[in-house]
Amino acid sequence: MTHSHRFLLAGVMGWPIAHSRSPKIHNYWLAQHGLAGVYAPLAVEPGRLETALRALPALGFAGCNLTIPHKEAALPFLDIVEDNARRIGAVNCVVVGPRGELIGRNYDGFGFVAALREAAPDWRAGDAPCVVIGAGGASRAILSGLIEAGARDIRLFNRSPERAVALAELFGAPVVALPWAQRNDALADAGLVVNATSQGMVGQAPLDLSLAALPKSALVCDIVYAPLETPLLAEARRIGATPVDGLGMLLHQARPAFRDWTGIMPEVTPQLRAAIVVTL
Ligand SMILES: NC(=O)c1ccc[n+]([C@@H]2O[C@H](COP(=O)([O-])OP(=O)(O)OC[C@H]3O[C@@H](n4cnc5c(N)ncnc54)[C@H](OP(=O)(O)O)[C@@H]3O)[C@@H](O)[C@H]2O)c1
Repeated sequence: MTHSHRFLLAGVMGWPIAHSRSPKIHNYWLAQHGLAGVYAPLAVEPGRLETALRALPALGFAGCNLTIPHKEAALPFLDIVEDNARRIGAVNCVVVGPRGELIGRNYDGFGFVAALREAAPDWRAGDAPCVVIGAGGASRAILSGLIEAGARDIRLFNRSPERAVALAELFGAPVVALPWAQRNDALADAGLVVNATSQGMVGQAPLDLSLAALPKSALVCDIVYAPLETPLLAEARRIGATPVDGLGMLLHQARPAFRDWTGIMPEVTPQLRAAIVVTL
């Protein structure tokens, strides 16, 4: 559906929400494409999520993004939850359908894979093992994205092993949960390693992972984007592997949401990236 002839309303619901970069990203695209509209930060307290979501059609919203702590909590309040979002157990994009129905989608996995492809257009998910460190919410979306992209061997590690085992059971082959102590050795033939933990973020210790065994041809992706260059990415650069920062995932997950609301699939340009980098 295209919204080009009316004022577009969209936003991001979270609590707190002031830190979100999504308004800057979507308002950049609205201006770039000459669309009348606004994308607003929506501070929604956890207990008021259902009321806020149900108000979207009456207010004329095309939809909204969801962020912490609403991504998982929203599922029961939506009329349709697409398979991908249901499997991930989280929704990051809500679209108001033609009859006012609320449709939940998850584009985090799309954003993750699109960011890898932007950094390394020749990378193929099925060509070599993928190593994913972390088994939280972001990891679920990444596993889903990698499987959709054709990954055949995904080695999953998590400090608390039971969470990795649960995700391997949920996603099935090609995801295999392995003991935390084996994470360094598992890199020996990998084509991709991903930090899907919060380690390396400002104020956190670096991820405890040695890249010594990793082939130089591999991609090293850190989904942490503050700082943009984490200790893991600095190490990847030092050994000659290809670093992929977490800002790409954030920017690319926004594209299909904007498309769903406006009919236009926007691009991640160097100018947009620069506009967001200065806010980090
Ligand atoms: N770039 C993007 O677009 C994007 C999108 C989503 C999230 N993120 C970032 O991704 C990170 C994870 O988010 P999330 O939502 O998945 O969080 P989450 O659900 O809370 O999961 C946190 C993960 O970090 C692990 N972890 C925490 N402390 C650790 C430590 N000291 N050593 C080893 N592992 C540790 C946890 O392991 P345990 O299970 O053992 O606690 C768990 O696997 C955050 O920094 C977030 O900002 C980025």
